[in-house]
Amino acid sequence: MFDDVRSDDRIIHVCVNMDCAMRGSEALRDRLREIVDETGVDVEVNDYICFAACEQGPNLLIEHERAFYSEVGPEHARAIVEHAEGGAAVEAIDRSDSFLARKIFNMLDAGFKPGDLSLSAE
Ligand code: FES
Repeated sequence: MFDDVRSDDRIIHVCVNMDCAMRGSEALRDRLREIVDETGVDVEVNDYICFAACEQGPNLLIEHERAFYSEVGPEHARAIVEHAEGGAAVEAIDRSDSFLARKIFNMLDAGFKPGDLSLSAE
């Protein structure tokens, strides 16, 4: 149901709250930004504060693909960017069918934007 809903905003939200940061999410975010800059893809990489999936971080959301990933490492960064560009999901770390992800997608569908709580200045 939610897989059919797409956002116009092309954003990867990376949790940089304490638990995810302790598991390397800031390095992951930086690597994602490097790849986006290198490749020139039209995707923004935002800081985000907590998806409430702290024990399985680093976590990130590809807003426009309705994709939620957990236990993401820098080695997944290129494939994540490719997914954000319309490529295939990264199955090994894809948690988009989880209860939590469906709640996040419900909030998106209701008009709540993850960027509303982002640390990124826009
Ligand atoms: S600290 Fe990242 S999901 Fe909570």
